[in-house]
Amino acid sequence: MTVSAVAARAEESFTHTYGTAPAGLWAAPGRVNLIGEHTDYNDGFVLPFALPQRVVVAAARADSGWQVRSDLAPEPVTFGADEVARPGVLDGWAAYVAGVVWALRDAGLPVPPARLALASDVPVGAGVSSSAALESAVLTALVELGDLDLPVDRRPALAQRAENAYVGAPTGIMDQAASIRCQAGHALFLDCRTRAVRQIPFDVAAHGLAVLIVDSNAPHRHVDGEYGARRKSCEAAAHLLGVPALRDVATGDLDAALRRLGEGPEGADEVIRRRVRHVVTENQRVLDTVAHLDAGRIREIGPLLTASHASMRDDFEITVPEVDVAVQAALAAGAYGARMTGGGFGGCVLALVDAGQAPATAAAVEAAYAAQGFPAPTAWVVNPGPGATRL
Ligand code: GLA
Repeated sequence: MTVSAVAARAEESFTHTYGTAPAGLWAAPGRVNLIGEHTDYNDGFVLPFALPQRVVVAAARADSGWQVRSDLAPEPVTFGADEVARPGVLDGWAAYVAGVVWALRDAGLPVPPARLALASDVPVGAGVSSSAALESAVLTALVELGDLDLPVDRRPALAQRAENAYVGAPTGIMDQAASIRCQAGHALFLDCRTRAVRQIPFDVAAHGLAVLIVDSNAPHRHVDGEYGARRKSCEAAAHLLGVPALRDVATGDLDAALRRLGEGPEGADEVIRRRVRHVVTENQRVLDTVAHLDAGRIREIGPLLTASHASMRDDFEITVPEVDVAVQAALAAGAYGARMTGGGFGGCVLALVDAGQAPATAAAVEAAYAAQGFPAPTAWVVNPGPGATRL
């Protein structure tokens, strides 16, 4: 579905639900992370780009409270300041919306009462941040509807707070930063410690290439618990090493850090050491990827993507057979590189391929899935889209 079709759905839903036209339409995208996985909450580096698929919010000011209609649910949800003040009262998609209202109010911003209607074509449960897209679209709409004093560079942290403190998922800053700050035709190089960003041109088509996304359609397994466990291991390792975050372990110091973790009286186990190795090497792979892209050497990022996948599979242990098979099949079909993207335990794989080879690569992955008896994957070619914006 095209963005304008989603926008039309949001607008129609608003008019149909509330009997008047919206004051405006705002949109925010899902994301694909080119490289830099599970580095964000370690104060490290990430390099996501925005999907063309977006959440669109049609909105207008109201007299009191917040009313939200979503194309995911049959009935609108209504809440007031009381519900907003009590995390846990609302659940499902409505909690993300209420969480944004809560985070804005908690930051001292006078959020206007509003009516909203949401429509989305961001795949849900595919690891492409449909929830960050929702938060970012709602946040952008409310900030602009209320003329709130919140510069763009402060918005991702508030959307992240909605997710961390209101919804209760211990995620990092990457997804909301990507949804809000990405630009079309670029990947967003984000330093998750300083929050400095640099737009890196990523026009693969101009180089005769394509990024193929394969949704593994694997069911998400134990995602929340496993994510939190990885995060705790990283924090424990940083503590043992006496650094604020794993970002502070330089690539050249990795071996010494791993030895130290194995020695101390608290003797960090092999698992923690592998977690550290993933984060430290992954940060370096992001920096190397950026260096290649800066120099216009797009094909050369392929081996870094593939190494990132091996690191997620063997050291961070966040892949599942479906994504491993998709990566293997894409590489065997001639991809320059391929990796799982996103938090893990299912989700999507991205492969960098010659533009003309995208259909054959998708077919190769499909055949490999059939041979394994996996449900069919979904594949599409993607170009980096714009970040959150008023339409
Ligand atoms: C999820 C989280 C992000 C990030 C990725 C892994 O998408 O929301 O903050 O940690 O996983 O890179």
